Amino acid sequence: MYRSHNCGELRAQNINQNVVLSGWVQRVRDKGHLLWIMLRDKTGETQLFLEEGTTSAELLAQARDLGREYVIRIEGRVIERASKNTNIPTGDIEVAVSKIEVLNSSETPPFTIEDDTDGGEELRMQYRYLDLRRKPMRDNILLRHRMLQLVRNYLSTQEFVEIETPYLIKSTPEGARDFVVPSRMHQGQFYALPQSPQTFKQLLMISGFERYFQIVRCFRDEDFRADRQPEFTQIDCELSFVNEQDIINVFTGMVKTIFNEVKGIDLGEFPVLTYAEAMRNYGNDRPDLRYGMKFNYLTESLSGTDFPPFKNTVDAGGDVISICAPGAASYTRKQLDKLTDFIKDPRFGMQGLVWVKYEEDGSIKSSVDKFFDEETKKAWLTMANATKGDLLLILAAQTNAVQKAMSELRIEMAKQLELRNPNVFAPCWVVEFPLVEWNPEQNRFDAMHHPFTAPQPEDEGILDTGNARSRAYDMVINGMEVGGGSIRIHDAEMQNKVFSLLGISEQERENKFGFLIRSLKNGAPPHGGIAFGFDRLCAILAGTESIRDVIAFPKNNAGRDMMLDAPAFIDQLQLNELGISTNS
Ligand code: AMO
Repeated sequence: MYRSHNCGELRAQNINQNVVLSGWVQRVRDKGHLLWIMLRDKTGETQLFLEEGTTSAELLAQARDLGREYVIRIEGRVIERASKNTNIPTGDIEVAVSKIEVLNSSETPPFTIEDDTDGGEELRMQYRYLDLRRKPMRDNILLRHRMLQLVRNYLSTQEFVEIETPYLIKSTPEGARDFVVPSRMHQGQFYALPQSPQTFKQLLMISGFERYFQIVRCFRDEDFRADRQPEFTQIDCELSFVNEQDIINVFTGMVKTIFNEVKGIDLGEFPVLTYAEAMRNYGNDRPDLRYGMKFNYLTESLSGTDFPPFKNTVDAGGDVISICAPGAASYTRKQLDKLTDFIKDPRFGMQGLVWVKYEEDGSIKSSVDKFFDEETKKAWLTMANATKGDLLLILAAQTNAVQKAMSELRIEMAKQLELRNPNVFAPCWVVEFPLVEWNPEQNRFDAMHHPFTAPQPEDEGILDTGNARSRAYDMVINGMEVGGGSIRIHDAEMQNKVFSLLGISEQERENKFGFLIRSLKNGAPPHGGIAFGFDRLCAILAGTESIRDVIAFPKNNAGRDMMLDAPAFIDQLQLNELGISTNS
């Protein structure tokens, strides 16, 4: 028998019981005549105790030989601790050891297996199996497991059917590069790994399943970031006979259920913003609504201004926008100069930053006192609902550019003012995304979501202008896009029109999507769906910024598996079999 109890289980009521425990040696504390061992298993830690005099010299010597992360089995009796540890659930007791059996030794781990480890991320990834022994990592993986169960359960009770779709497929158009797999049987030909099961789930609607879901791995060869992995997991869903509101209802319900069950938080109503509103008010299609700093447009009120930066912008049809940073009137000259530098960065390309301080004593100071009278500045403050102690930041430029830059400044201010509380969750839906966006490099329109997204019915007449709105929607939480989808085109003629708009030739259409067009002609019901980035949802609930923290075996920032050392070269024999020649 390896154990009578788990390490996290023993309490005062177990005192005097004989127990058997198995687990890993967390640490050994040797005070000469007294010796403690912290023993850990998946449920927690128990302190083991040995004392010169009561414990045999042989057993003490054996205990002294134990290293960190040795795997041991012990027998002993539960006793009351002389000094209690209120930080751990088993802190009232310890186990007086009568027998130790070493089940396996361990090399000294390359980093400490503690909540706050001394290991850098690359090293921890190289020894991921050791990193996963740490409680914060374990907890993340357990959270993920719990969320998988909640999602499966929620969707099943909503009559969704879980259906698997293939991994070895042909290119899917989600906008990233494909990972490809060479075929040995068909030399020179390649499978693509799915960027998403998009076309399959639409076909399943045409097959009549009406509600499909799959918790599925997707593969995208794109630049990696904290919230992106080359392989990641989607909660992928599709429904027939639905409109946007139905989707919003079902998936608001799913996310509310997760937050309720995992965090005991009621997220309340999810605000719904159109893309146009999100861009106008926050300069961003995934606004972080944990904090305010909504944009105020000063453009109209400035029509007669002489102040060159504002005048030039207004004359050129651009916009002058302010945000009100709460409590930031105390910013020093140096801090304001830093903000100016931030916004002049070539990425944002602003010429300068205008600031107006509404001081605690009610006076107003600004960087443009020479150009604007008190009344004008007061009007700006009133427009922004500023109160004493607030700081107004103003940017002027061409509309798209100033919205983008102000969005970055808004996020930067939220960081500096610590308004991004990780324990607050502000979800919203963003709807009515543009159908297409202009790709200046390729000189053509790209689908903003994907080519199967339906246009808004009232915009069908203006498809060719590129200005039609789509029936796409995203769910955003705390400024992160956690899910996205759309109502689809279910009419072959409309699908062909959109393919034409996207510059997809008849031949390419037949080659890539012939099966889909044919399926649309075979009784395709109205349908729509959504996919959630499951890793991102887990990261938000785990309170971490990086999705690597909630994936058991993630890739590093360069797309490498540090533990396996993949990708790797393969031998010539294998290449020959695949009919692939190399230059090396
Ligand atoms: P989309 O491309 O928006 O839509 O992806 C859906 C969600 O998946 C997550 N996501 C990622 N997570 C981690 N790493 C990545 N590289 C990554 N890329 C995307 C995001 C995103 O919101 N087939 C459509 C869905 C549909 O129309 O139903 C699709 O894949 O959270």
